[in-house]
Amino acid sequence: MKIKDCVALVTGGNRGIGEAFVRALLERGARRVYVGSREIANAEHLVREAPDRVTAIRLDVTNPDHVAQAAEDCGDVSLLINNAGAFCMQTLLRAPDLSSARQEMEINYFAPLAMCRAFAPILARHEESAIANVLSAGGIVAVPGMGGYSPSKFAARAMTTCVRAELAPQNTHVTALIVGSVDTRMASHVEGFKEAPSTIAKVGLKAIERRADEVDTDYMALDVRASSARDPKAQEMMLRRSLSGDRVSTGR
Ligand SMILES: NC(=O)c1ccc[n+]([C@@H]2O[C@H](COP(=O)([O-])OP(=O)(O)OC[C@H]3O[C@@H](n4cnc5c(N)ncnc54)[C@H](OP(=O)(O)O)[C@@H]3O)[C@@H](O)[C@H]2O)c1
Repeated sequence: MKIKDCVALVTGGNRGIGEAFVRALLERGARRVYVGSREIANAEHLVREAPDRVTAIRLDVTNPDHVAQAAEDCGDVSLLINNAGAFCMQTLLRAPDLSSARQEMEINYFAPLAMCRAFAPILARHEESAIANVLSAGGIVAVPGMGGYSPSKFAARAMTTCVRAELAPQNTHVTALIVGSVDTRMASHVEGFKEAPSTIAKVGLKAIERRADEVDTDYMALDVRASSARDPKAQEMMLRRSLSGDRVSTGR
């Protein structure tokens, strides 16, 4: 899958890892990048950087009308990056009700699935095309301190594998990006080392380019996978620490 000259759509492209993907795509010679943003105004800084190649689109990924409109307006997309995500900072049982867990499932699981469904026919128009789903180390091991986030990323990872199979006949490859800890607003509460968003985008584009099924994008993701393979029970006990006190944490 060539990045040069591709036409990409990045959901939640206005900040954090999504913004880094937009910049990396431009650097690598993408012909056009659609920046999905809940508020167009929040993506205007990226349009200003490359007005001939960047288009901001209003896209709340949980809004079916927005998703349908994006598919209508962006009919030339050959690479879809499902990056938008949310972490509600609640635990499963201490949360006052199920609204946070439902919201995480809506944004992190149903929304990327809706995007895959809406864009599959568009991606089929190209000889080669790709989808990358930005997942989490919390989607390969259950992190008790992250409430509904971890289950939603597990679901999204399973969805990624199933959609990869469904889209193989049309030569659209689907890559799961397993992300550990990154210096963005979502992880502002996390102490300890956090990878730069630009690194995740660089590694992510390489993974898409070589049509990898699943790639760990940073040290923490690699470490979580290795620890759980070595000793899953010790890993589970260690992750219980993320529940200590009232702090919700992805940190180690
Ligand atoms: N940071 C980490 O340590 C980390 C670790 C593992 C995985 N990830 C994953 O990486 C992805 C990007 O997260 P990030 O770290 O860059 O977080 P972030 O800085 O909080 O950015 C989240 C992005 O998602 C957008 N978004 C949230 N809900 C949306 C919706 N309903 N429709 C459209 N866009 C929506 C936000 O838009 P607004 O600006 O409008 O809010 C923002 O652009 C997520 O899928 C996250 O789960 C992050």
